[in-house]
Amino acid sequence: MMLKRYSAIALFWIAFSSVIATGAQTSPFSAEAKQKAESLLKQMTLDEKVGQLNESSGLVIPGLAKEKPDDLIAKGGVGSILWQMDVKEINRLQHIAVEKSRLHIPIIFGFDVIHGYRTVFPVPLAMASSWDPSVEEQAQHLAAQDARAAGIDWTFTPMVDIARDARWGRIVEGAGEDPVLGSAMAQAQVRGFQGPKLGQDSVLVTVKHFAGYGAADGGRDYDSSYVPEELLRNVYLVPFHAAVQAGAGGIMSAYMDLNDVPASGNHWLLTDVLRKDWGFQGIVLSDALAVGNLVTHGYASGGEDAAYKAITAGLNMDMASLTYSQNLAKVVKDGRVSEAYIDQMVLPILEAKFDLGLFDHPYVDEASVDAVLNRPEGIALERKLAGRSMVLLRNENRTLPLSKDLKKIAIIGPLADAAHDIEGGWTVEGLFGKGSKSHPVTVLAGIRNRLGTDAQITLVAGPQPSKVYTSMLDQFTGAKSTPPSTPQETAEWIAKAKAAAADADLVVAVMGETASMSSEASSRASLDLPGIQEQMLEAIVGVGKPVVLVLENGRPLDIHWASEHVPAILEAWYPGTQGGDAVTDVLFGDVNPGGKLPVSWPSASGVEPLYYNHNLTHDPEDRPSFTSRYWDVSSKPLYPFGYGLSYTAFKFSNLHLSKNRMSVSDGNEVSVDVTNTGSIAGDAVAQIYIHQRYGSASRPVRELKGFERVLLQAGETKTLRFPLGTEQLHFWSPQSKTWVVEPSDFDVWAGGDSTASLHAEFKTTQ
Ligand code: NOJ
Repeated sequence: MMLKRYSAIALFWIAFSSVIATGAQTSPFSAEAKQKAESLLKQMTLDEKVGQLNESSGLVIPGLAKEKPDDLIAKGGVGSILWQMDVKEINRLQHIAVEKSRLHIPIIFGFDVIHGYRTVFPVPLAMASSWDPSVEEQAQHLAAQDARAAGIDWTFTPMVDIARDARWGRIVEGAGEDPVLGSAMAQAQVRGFQGPKLGQDSVLVTVKHFAGYGAADGGRDYDSSYVPEELLRNVYLVPFHAAVQAGAGGIMSAYMDLNDVPASGNHWLLTDVLRKDWGFQGIVLSDALAVGNLVTHGYASGGEDAAYKAITAGLNMDMASLTYSQNLAKVVKDGRVSEAYIDQMVLPILEAKFDLGLFDHPYVDEASVDAVLNRPEGIALERKLAGRSMVLLRNENRTLPLSKDLKKIAIIGPLADAAHDIEGGWTVEGLFGKGSKSHPVTVLAGIRNRLGTDAQITLVAGPQPSKVYTSMLDQFTGAKSTPPSTPQETAEWIAKAKAAAADADLVVAVMGETASMSSEASSRASLDLPGIQEQMLEAIVGVGKPVVLVLENGRPLDIHWASEHVPAILEAWYPGTQGGDAVTDVLFGDVNPGGKLPVSWPSASGVEPLYYNHNLTHDPEDRPSFTSRYWDVSSKPLYPFGYGLSYTAFKFSNLHLSKNRMSVSDGNEVSVDVTNTGSIAGDAVAQIYIHQRYGSASRPVRELKGFERVLLQAGETKTLRFPLGTEQLHFWSPQSKTWVVEPSDFDVWAGGDSTASLHAEFKTTQ
């Protein structure tokens, strides 16, 4: 039956290709934890089991929780608590669970520790720009120790959603558009949080949002995603699978409809792919209220149907909607779901609690929390990792690095001294309006720290840009919508900025988006510099002094004017607590920038979605007849995926393959020399791309298959090697619906970004 759907050509490819089996996960939990969990399960009533499948809100917030969970905890009705960061309250609630509930099962406390706890690291998109997985691993390891000391055992991190559309606000939380880079960053975060094995100072991860959330229609957060299976398998699911293979203990189901079936009730996703194909044996947690919202989507008829659809889809734990709590026991008693199935769903939750040591050490040592959170090594690490995450986009006439003898600097822009914004969104202590306790260093403060009191530093901030429509999260962060500047206010700010620029030797413009502009429920239609920033920038450049633009933002922005008129542009993203010092390290040349873009940078808002690994068209745009597929702007990116400058220069040469011809089941290796041709040391990121020229499906023009960030002294050459075996060459064929390596001809490129020209080729045969 199936075969009828294949064309003769497809049959040829399928017959001679190699079908690849992909690896299954071994349990993320220990055999000892399993044994203990199974014996505990035998003592539990159905209600107690359902209780373990419920994650209640620790905060009483409209729309989330009407009352504190105390009574439910005492009845054994709460397996986990989210959104409680007050250690005293964590201990109070834990005492109820451990002392008052019949079986004394401790609660597991979960929260979004996305990029640090008190010490806030660069946002995930920034850390991905380092192209150095150890940046993520080190940051998340420190965050895990901090979180655990503060009573958080479970983080809702890493977000591994592929994002091909910069309008989508949550692009800031992920690693960008590429599955290979995304997988490396996902695995590094799993290692950072969970360590070699779960224990008393590690934190359980939740890989989110499963799956296709980043493909929201129009980049509008929460909107439906329509992603065909081949695109899911070849792109969107890849980092999730990588995280599962690295031992991730948790997965969070996404909010939106995936191909018309809400992800939180999607049996294909949560059972067929995740458990059957990948062998996942951990916990699937819903996103907040998502089980209840199966009714809102128009997928479930009411609470009972929602509980039935979610549990049978394979979702273990209901975050905050209380739908399981209120309906699941009835669904079991009615015989629609067996108690044995419920046991399977409870098992990994108990296993996690045993492995994390919660049964032996359920409470937080309140006296030691601040000492752990304020460890000076966190601050030093943050500054170093922030420096590794920055991307130098433009540097005409060697404007950077700056001279350390500068005496008069004008610092312009609303982000120059915005302490909250330099840390970005989703900060643990900043989220609920309590404010950060981390003392962030702004760019203004960083430059002051560097130049001391001898230098004249003038700040003209200009008006803070604001969103037209605020979101539910803004009520927690305190971000407000303010009216746009009037023409008169705008003229006054511009006059001040021009005067400051005229009186300075150099201008540093610090512009971009406020932290709340790149976040959940913070998508936007335009990618321009919000507010009057573009006008201020153009005005100060008109003054004629050298200008350096430092961008603080969580997504690519439309900077096409700046890319032609501002001599130096440094993408700092939201660099975290030590951000201002780290920016200054790069501006003054103590750190040679080595970050590269994890996203294709658009030349205009209207070119989104934009990604380098698209397919060839019937008439590719590099032919003379079609230089672009738009008539008003180039469809080429302003800066390509993988791009970033350095204060030195690199040359790639001697691209070799160990075999020019190989069988589809064989391995190959590519090697390339990278030379630092400049006069100072610097980091290069070697990138390997391939293209399969023909086969059972059209393949992307280029796909990243290997990368390595490497430090080279002036004049130094290193030879780097990358495997090109079945793991790199396989893809999910939409025709055979299997993973295949096909007989074909392949192009290979090596270089410093996705437009690399150093080329070789090889052939695969049956
Ligand atoms: C909703 C977000 O989509 C998710 O990423 C987050 O982990 C939960 N809220 C809990 O804070």
